[in-house]
Formats: sequence, C-alpha cells, structure tokens
Amino acid sequence: MAKGKELMGEWNYPTKVHFGAGRVSLLPDVCKTLNISRPLLVTDAGLVSQSFTQKILKNNKAMGLECCLFSKVKPNPVGENIDEGVVAYHEAGCDGVIAVGGGSALDAGKAIALMSGQDRPIWDFEDVGDNWQRVNPEGIAPVIAIPTTAGTGSEVGRAAVILDSACQIKKVIYHPDMLPEVVIADPALTLGLPAHLTAATGLDAFVHLLEAYCAPGFHPMADGIALEGMRLVKENLPTAFERGEDLSARSNMLAASLMGAVAFQKGLGAVHALAHPLGARFDAHHGLLNAILLPYVLRRNRVAIEKKLEHAALYLALDEPCFDVFYTWVLSLRKQLQIPATLQDIGISTIDRESIGQMAIQDSCASGNPVLFSAEDYGAIFEEAVTGKGL
Ligand SMILES: [Fe+2]
Repeated sequence: MAKGKELMGEWNYPTKVHFGAGRVSLLPDVCKTLNISRPLLVTDAGLVSQSFTQKILKNNKAMGLECCLFSKVKPNPVGENIDEGVVAYHEAGCDGVIAVGGGSALDAGKAIALMSGQDRPIWDFEDVGDNWQRVNPEGIAPVIAIPTTAGTGSEVGRAAVILDSACQIKKVIYHPDMLPEVVIADPALTLGLPAHLTAATGLDAFVHLLEAYCAPGFHPMADGIALEGMRLVKENLPTAFERGEDLSARSNMLAASLMGAVAFQKGLGAVHALAHPLGARFDAHHGLLNAILLPYVLRRNRVAIEKKLEHAALYLALDEPCFDVFYTWVLSLRKQLQIPATLQDIGISTIDRESIGQMAIQDSCASGNPVLFSAEDYGAIFEEAVTGKGL
C-alpha cells in the first residue's frame, strides 16, 4: 500500500467526515443519502478546469445527478457573489450545495446554502450578539463540503467570511446549521497544490490552532485538539511544502486543518483580527497575511501566553520548553516555507494605519485575543509587520 493510503477514517465529529485518499468517489452516494438530486456545485473559477472538478461532474452525471455549476467566487468572496449564487441555485431548481475548493469556495457555498431560503439580507446574520437567531433554519440548504486545500478548515466550520464591498469590511456570517452535513476530506485532491499555497494555507491552519490554544477561557477539549494539530503541522508541513506529492504529509495536514477549525470554536485572536481588515483593504491572501503577522502578534501577547507556550513547546518537543524557543521556531518555520518577513514585501504600506487599527478592534476575532489591544496597539503591530521592526 502506498504510504499515506492507510490514513483513512469515518468520523462523526464535528459532523459526518469521510476521510482518506480516493474518498471523493463517494460523492454520488452521499448526495443520495441526503436526498439531493439536483446539487449546485460551488467552486472558484480557477478550479473549474481542474481534472478533479471535471471528474466530479462526470461521475455525478453518470449516477443520474445533474450538477449545476457556479464558479463566480472571488478569492475574497463578496456579498454579490452570494447573491448571484442564490439566483443560480433557484433558477436551476437546486436542492443542495456541493462546495469544492479552498476557504473562499467553501465559505461561498455555505453562504449560498444559508441564503437560499432567507428573506433578510446576508449582513443581518453577521456574527454579532444574537443575530444568528434571525436565521430561518428551515431555509438552509444541505451542504457537502470537499476541501482542496489544507488550511481554512471551513468544511467543519459554522461560519463564512464574506466581504461587504460597500464598506470594505470582511464580515463573519454565522449560524450553527451552516456546518456542512457531510465532509469528504480527500487528501489526494490537495496533492497538486503549489508550494507557496501549501505554505500559506498550512500556516493559516497553524494560526487557527495556536490562536485557539492561546484564547482565554476554560475549554480543555479545544486545547487538546489544538496541541495535537500543531504537532501535525510541525511534523508534516515542511514535507508537504517540499514534496507536494507526499500523501502521508498531505493527509496529516488535511487533518490538522480540520482540527484548527474545530479548535477555534474556542476563539481566534489578534492575528485574524488584523488579517481580516488587511485582506479586505489590500485583497491579499488570508493565509499569507496570517503567516506574516504571526510573530509580531506573538511578541505583543508574550506576557499573557508565556506559560501556555511552555506547555506547547514541551508537547512539540522543541529544544526547550519556553516562549523564546517557541518564537524562534515559528520564525524558522516561516523562513523554511519561504514566507516573506514583512507586509512591505507583499506590497502593503502603513497608509491606512488608523483605519486598520479601528477595524481590527471591531473584528469579531479581537475578543479572543489574550490581551485586549486598543486600536492604537493594532496600528502599532501593523506598522511593525510592515517594516519588520524588532524582528
Ligand atoms: Fe484563518
């Protein structure tokens, strides 16, 4: 048996997950189980021509399932993408969504399924207070999620991040029933992911795990998952980056990605609170932003996370169980994965420092950070990450 083929599983946590190489072939049966006879396949334009997308469409057709295709999803999906998707869903008389792709396509697919049966605008369901209770749960279409990157973990998440282009703010749209009914996690679909995207998405997963682990609050289940997920990233991301065809590394990274999204039910933190406005303002890759921002935020959080990172360093078998060794390891991992050291390196300047700081404190992830930063603090971290000051 080829190495990695044995990494298979049938999980019911946090939803039904068929995990393992080749499992995408189960899709027609999964549709039948969910009584989906006319699915809308949501993906992004770049994935339509990929052989696996074409294969999915062909296999479904062979089994009598006529898939309708919707691929007008931007890398940072906007509200208009969701509106168009809902129109396509109803025009084709669909009865469920198959979301295939990275975080953008999965989030868009989940949002289209949510909005297929609501009579309020999507922004009314932003994850603020009890807004989720405005959703008519009967109006949420079933979703089958098929990730093709290992990072976002959106396939096991209950939210979608959508850009409100009118105000250039990324909003988290949330309802517990947005959790896909079934996930097909097939690591063979991630084998062709280019190295730079493997690095950026893989570090997004790592930041989910680390921010969840450091978020305040009593949640030992999330902490345990986060620690093991971080270990999987440490052991497998460099291999997946250097040898993209390594199925074992790809399988472990896909598992780590799912674990990140499960763990961050506990909370995220300042890396994401800054990455969201920066992604909205500069249309930059979410995982790449997180990867660049991470050490600058870690330093500022030091006082509140020193003890936790001692435990993490011990579990990850780093040279010494202390903050400094953990921090140095993060820097070396970033370098090994050829992540730029500063935001300046990807063309971002401090031009909007004040407004970015303001947007960061209003982001829903800010409350999960172990230190409650002010807008001025966020502005200062942003500036450090642009210039590389103190790195
Ligand atoms: Fe993320």
